[in-house]
Amino acid sequence: MEIKRIQDMDLEGKKVLLRVDFNVSLENDKVKESFKIAAAKETLDYLLNKNCKVAMISHFGRPGGVPNPEFSLEQIVFDAKEILATNLTFVSDCVGEKVTTAMDDMLGGALLLENVRFYAGDETNDAEFAKQLAENFDVFVNDAFSVCHRDQASVTGVTKILPSCAGFRLLEEIHEMTIIKDHPIAPAVAIIGGAKIETKLPVIKFFEEKYDYILVGGKIANEAIDQKIEFSDKVILPTDFVDDRLDIGPKTVEKFKEIIAGAKTIAWNGPTGKFEDEKYAKSSNDILEAVVASGAFVLVGGGETLEILEKNHAMDDISFVSTGGGAMLDFVAGNVMPGIEVLKA
Ligand code: 3PG
Repeated sequence: MEIKRIQDMDLEGKKVLLRVDFNVSLENDKVKESFKIAAAKETLDYLLNKNCKVAMISHFGRPGGVPNPEFSLEQIVFDAKEILATNLTFVSDCVGEKVTTAMDDMLGGALLLENVRFYAGDETNDAEFAKQLAENFDVFVNDAFSVCHRDQASVTGVTKILPSCAGFRLLEEIHEMTIIKDHPIAPAVAIIGGAKIETKLPVIKFFEEKYDYILVGGKIANEAIDQKIEFSDKVILPTDFVDDRLDIGPKTVEKFKEIIAGAKTIAWNGPTGKFEDEKYAKSSNDILEAVVASGAFVLVGGGETLEILEKNHAMDDISFVSTGGGAMLDFVAGNVMPGIEVLKA
């Protein structure tokens, strides 16, 4: 079954609810990484050129179904305007009268609606809440790959009510992720780090079947060693560490670099040490350098891994940077992606 694509829809002059993922981190009230916001630009510009009235909807953090200024999307409006080079009007609700009025009064640009997770009905995928979300619109466009592993009202619920399709960014993510998952060119190397072995284990198992090497670092390496998890010879665990296993050691880094240098495909998700502490960022930085130098097709995903790229100004040196963290892991592990399934015709 094919995904319904934005370019195949009749969108001229339509009222469009656009699902984006503006769940970014802030530092001193400024957006720390602009990447996820910029990812929506192509679709937004396309819709505006079709004279659509566009309202963007996103979650921001996990406020637990209640309004909380700490999680208000109003905080990012100023930066989002700049990043998207578009006039944005913030609406302090995502359903109801305020949205109706803002849609009616809209003269240009687009709306940014308040955090959809201020309502519990989003995460519980409440049908009544989905109806309220859809109320003011003709069409739903999902451009947020990074939430497609979620079965939530603003991802799947609204598609039961409105004609729906995938935006350009989502289509591109699916295309690139499919290469990594189904058509890697050998030697193919996966680098898996970060925390929570239970979420990463299915991904490691997937890569064991399709890839030549799986280099494991970060907290999950410690967890795998402690839990005596058995892997095939393709999985390379660290053999030395720095301090209290807060980073992988120089011998392991050398081994990883040697393997990376020969790779034709690289998929990377998760730092190999406690990178937020500069003292333990060395292996992640060294690995990034080796990945860039390898000349391989490289796909990188996961919020923390993106932070490593941004810190090292290496965003443009990577073949494809995914907006997905958990979504990337679920996609490559072959798990059902509810947000993508509902867009298939
Ligand atoms: C992410 O940051 O990976 C996405 O925005 C999804 O956020 P969630 O894990 O809170 O659903």
